Amino acid sequence: MAVTELVPAATTPQAWAVPRMGSLANLVKQPTNLVAQSAPGTVRVAVRAIGLNFADVFCVLGLYAAFGTSGNPVPGLEFAGVIEADGEGWKKGQRVYGTTRFGAYTTHLDADPRYLRPIPEAWSFEQAAAYPVQTITAFYALHHLGVLQPGATVLLQSAAGGVGLQALRILAATPDVKVLGIVGNPKKIDLLTKMFPGQKRWRFVSREAGTTLSEQIKSFLTAQQSSGFDLILDSVMGPAFKPSYDALNPCGRYVIFGSASLAPSTISLSPMTVGFYNPMNVVRMITLAYKFLTRPKIDPLVLVADNKNIMGYNLIWLYDKLQLLTDMYSDLNKLNLEPPHVGHVFDFDDLPKALAYFQTGQTVGKVVVTVP
Ligand SMILES: NC(=O)c1ccc[n+]([C@@H]2O[C@H](COP(=O)([O-])OP(=O)(O)OC[C@H]3O[C@@H](n4cnc5c(N)ncnc54)[C@H](OP(=O)(O)O)[C@@H]3O)[C@@H](O)[C@H]2O)c1
Repeated sequence: MAVTELVPAATTPQAWAVPRMGSLANLVKQPTNLVAQSAPGTVRVAVRAIGLNFADVFCVLGLYAAFGTSGNPVPGLEFAGVIEADGEGWKKGQRVYGTTRFGAYTTHLDADPRYLRPIPEAWSFEQAAAYPVQTITAFYALHHLGVLQPGATVLLQSAAGGVGLQALRILAATPDVKVLGIVGNPKKIDLLTKMFPGQKRWRFVSREAGTTLSEQIKSFLTAQQSSGFDLILDSVMGPAFKPSYDALNPCGRYVIFGSASLAPSTISLSPMTVGFYNPMNVVRMITLAYKFLTRPKIDPLVLVADNKNIMGYNLIWLYDKLQLLTDMYSDLNKLNLEPPHVGHVFDFDDLPKALAYFQTGQTVGKVVVTVP
């Protein structure tokens, strides 16, 4: 296990908190309330890198039930860093990554040792901070809910995102799968084609392509001589739902784990241009309300008639299922995946800018914030 020489971190531990939900402009950097010794049963980690998740945007906007909407909470689900003092089975200087049920937007934290893992020797702090949430999300969707089988035909939304790339890596470790990956723009297709050059039965298409999703699906399934999809991973929802569901095979599984198309896009961070000060935001809110009201809905009885399965999940509710998480880490180790693709790195002081960039939908791979 690698041991790194401790470099003194920021003298006063600091964290980005959300005293008031609703806008990224409300994020405030402030001293944490850590005392000299780590809390009993925890181990203090000097954080070097924080992995951002699309869910963090929903937290700050006050749209994530598990995060709550009151107090002065600190978002953030995953981090990598260095153990600051011996304790709880860990040694000072060990490089670790871990998850926390919020609170990772910080320079230091008292971590629950059960949720820490050693960083593989060859991985950077950024890669390690990028690993847990998106990889476990992809693995749970593909293997636990999706019951992925060799030879399966799979549809994957946001294929170039953090979860998307990890899902593709897991799919690449499964023999003979055929994959249709959907992305938001053609630049992302270039990246995916370079990253997965040998996959002859995979196709990546852009929502901007000019053809409808139904046509793209038909063309792909015909080329692959597949009757339909055995498994669909959807974190976007919206208009893609119906054509995707229609192309699901009987006994197929449709796994929903996000709703990016319902994310409000307030990109400006200036206090004078957010909220009702900005007429554009009124337009955005009306658009969002329209999207919400017209979101896809399905009668459960139809599922019986169609012999299809729709499932949903949220990783946050698996947090207490430690044995399940441990088993998934161990199954993932057996796949020997490459470290995650870190697409964008921001400084700790620029964390709100990193989240705003996330909100644009243009990111590829993982967005990581580093603590100097
Ligand atoms: N349920 C869970 O436990 C769980 C855990 C982790 C993540 N998630 C969900 O999984 C999805 C992927 O998460 P991630 O952290 O890896 O993020 P990500 O895929 O790196 O980024 C989100 C992607 O959503 C797509 N998107 C579609 N419509 C959008 C819109 N209106 N605004 C912004 N982006 C839009 C964009 O990709 P394209 O345009 O290329 O599609 C964007 O890159 C998210 O929806 C997230 O909420 C769920």
